Parts: sequence; C-alpha cells; structure tokens
Amino acid sequence: MSGKELLAIEGGAPVRTEGMPPEADFFGLEELEAVTNVMKSRALRRGNITEEYEKKIADWFGVKHALAVTSGTTALHVALAAIGVGPGDEVIVSPYTFVSSDTSVLEQNAVPVFADIDPDYLHLDPADIERKITPYTKAIIPVSAYGAPVDMDPIMEIARKHNLWVIEDDCRAIGATYKGKKSGTTGHIAVFSTVAGKVISTGEGGFAITNDDALYEKMWSYSDFARKRSLGSSSKYHWGLPCTNYRITNLQAAIGIEQMKKLDEFVEARNKNGRYLSEQLKDVPGIILPKEPVWGETIYYYYLIRIQQEVLGSDMLNFALALSAEGVFDKKLLPTTRWPISQNLEPLFIEKSGYGGTKCPFECAHYKGKVEYGPGQCPVSEKLHEEVLWLSSVNPQMTRKDLDDIAHAVKKVVSAFLEKKVRGEKIEYAAERDRALL
Ligand SMILES: Cc1ncc(COP(=O)(O)O)c(C=O)c1O
Repeated sequence: MSGKELLAIEGGAPVRTEGMPPEADFFGLEELEAVTNVMKSRALRRGNITEEYEKKIADWFGVKHALAVTSGTTALHVALAAIGVGPGDEVIVSPYTFVSSDTSVLEQNAVPVFADIDPDYLHLDPADIERKITPYTKAIIPVSAYGAPVDMDPIMEIARKHNLWVIEDDCRAIGATYKGKKSGTTGHIAVFSTVAGKVISTGEGGFAITNDDALYEKMWSYSDFARKRSLGSSSKYHWGLPCTNYRITNLQAAIGIEQMKKLDEFVEARNKNGRYLSEQLKDVPGIILPKEPVWGETIYYYYLIRIQQEVLGSDMLNFALALSAEGVFDKKLLPTTRWPISQNLEPLFIEKSGYGGTKCPFECAHYKGKVEYGPGQCPVSEKLHEEVLWLSSVNPQMTRKDLDDIAHAVKKVVSAFLEKKVRGEKIEYAAERDRALL
C-alpha cells in the first residue's frame, strides 16, 4: 500500500466523484406486470395474492406458516403478542440492533433487558443471556446483526431450561442458513423485514414464520383486528384481546412474490459481492473483516468492518468521515441509523421514557422486577458500537467498479492513517456537531 495519496478530506483528489449508487429498490418488468395485474383486478386489499405470497415464503423456508405484515417492526410486535408477552414481563434483547427489536417489546408494555454480544458476530452471548434471566423473563430475541446466522442451539437450550420463548429477529438475514436449514427456522417464531434495502424489498413490509399452528393463528388474529382465521371471512372480532391492523395490500404481496422468485439469485449476488470485498481487503492492517461462522452461511446484507483504533490511531467516526470525503460512504447514514449507539444507551432507556409521560412499563405497578440501563451493562456491545463501521451495502446492483472504489478508498485511508500515526499526528476531522448528531 502506498501512502502517497493525499486524503480527499485534506484537499486531495477523491477516489470517486459520482457518489455511491443509492440503495434503490431493484425491480424488473416482472414486478411491474404483477402490480399492474393487481390494479386491473381492482382487489388491492389483502386477499388471494397475499395468501399466495405467504405460501411462497413458507415453502421457501420449509415451514408451515408465514404471515405477511406491514414491516419487520410489526412482525416483531405480532410475534410478541402471540406468545403473550405483557405488563410485568421482561424480554432479553440484543443491544446490537435496530431500535424496533426492543421498542416492539415496549409496545406490549413489557420491559426489554439487554444482554451483551459476542465480539466476532455481534450476536447475543448465551452466557450473558443466562446471567440476565430473572423470574420475569418470558422471551429472548436474538438478532442477526449483518446477515451471519445466529448460533441458535445454545440459545434454544437456555430457552428450554428456563421455559422461554425465542423470536429470531432475522430482519437482516433473509437467505442465511443455520446447520443446513434456513436461518429463522430454529426458534418458535422468526421475523423478517422487506423494507427497501433489505435482501428482498416490497417497499415497506415484513413477515413472520412459524411451525406452530396456535402461534400462527394468534399472530394472524392480532394483525387483523382479532378476527379468527380459522373461521374465514365471516369471522368477527373473536379473540377478545387488544389487537390492531398490520395487513399488507395485494400490491406489496404481488411485488413480494416476484422478489421471492429471485431470492436465490439475490443471495448469490450479495454473497459474491461480500466475499469479493473481503478478498480485496484481506491484508489491510487495522481493520477486522466480517467473519463467516462455521455453523452456517452468511447472507451479506451489509458489509461491516471493525476499526482497530490502537493500530490506526483513529476512531470509527474519523475513519467514516475520511471515507465519505473519498466519495464511497454517505455520512448521513451515521446519524440516521444510530449505528454507533448500543441500545442500552439510548436516551429512551436511560431516561425510562414511558407512555403518556409516565415511566411505564419500566416502573409500572405490574412489573415486580427492577431494570436499569446505562454504560457498562453490555461492555462488548458498547465498545463495538464505537468501532464497527457499516461500510457498504453489497446489494446485487453494486458493480465491480463500485466495490473496487470502496476497497481503494479504505486502503488509501488506512495508509494515510498509519503514516500519521508514525508521525504522531492526531486525527480529528469530526467537529462537535458531527459527534452531537450521533
Ligand atoms: C434487526 C432489525 N430488526 C427490525 C427491523 C425493522 O424492520 P422494518 O424497518 O421493516 O420495520 C430492522 C430494520 O429495518 C432491523 O434491521
């Protein structure tokens, strides 16, 4: 690696001037035609096309049931409602996740408890799950952080021992495999997101899968005003429990059917891109590349690297800003996604901001436990949130040139940072404002 190129953030020429391709939905004529057909049918509401989509999902995963809903977030919510999580309950959640893995627990008036993660795959650490179990624990939500399958057997073992439910949050992992099975088929329920940018997209959307007939019936009911699926369209609001409407339309389902047909191709293309980047970056010092576990196959939803501050003399934020100036990284992604924040440090939890200005469910009378949130609770997650950079999507639309530019820019920044370190120069591109935005 030559350290001769002046970094763009210091006035040098950027690696790339046209920006990275936006994470647009990638549709073909098939999706267009499918949507048009639904429009022509004048049956836009949830109906036979949605059921066909659900059948396609269930068949692809090899499970009995799939329920399509409006988002990954609402899929989590129906799953939690179905297993009966409610006031007084705790649910153990990964702190390395998108906020809805834990806010969906709050939606049920239950309390999220964060267990720490392992440093290699950023997945819940079974040993810490055990430590965080209390008499109030009802469920565990393991999350696939970037598309590597979660090692589910130890988690299921704990769940069996303590009589807990397991909901796999595989919103980012459609297409990963675990011990020869599709990831998401080991827990009691698994949820997935099909929001734009995910492995398949319906614009907005998500689905839950299960092999359990009773859970399926409850999820279905919960998502459709407590109607009873088994009673068909004549059913009224039978369940007699709080419920809501998370139905999708036949329009999204029609897109979903076509995307499902292409899913295997998408998985192959993403994995090819992810592995290509790993090949290009394999000898670069100061960064740790995503690991592929022995227990299954990763789907490269996103490509994450870990910045070794002690080697490069820079933290992840300065590295990201330097890459952004090189034209291969969109720095707006940092604040909008809050990637640098471990969930146990989110103000929502630190301040225990509850419903209606109360501290419910955190200090609700139904809750007999005691929960506190703050630094030091999940030390691995807190440290890794400061080090892991979500470098790039590796979606099928990325070209060799896009990936080469990313690799070039990473190498350029690493070289320059290593030289600065030798010269004892401090790296500080991040203004107060940049840090405040995170
Ligand atoms: C791990 C995880 N869980 C849940 C969600 C929520 O999915 P949605 O955006 O479809 O509500 C997302 C992201 O989008 C996610 O990454």
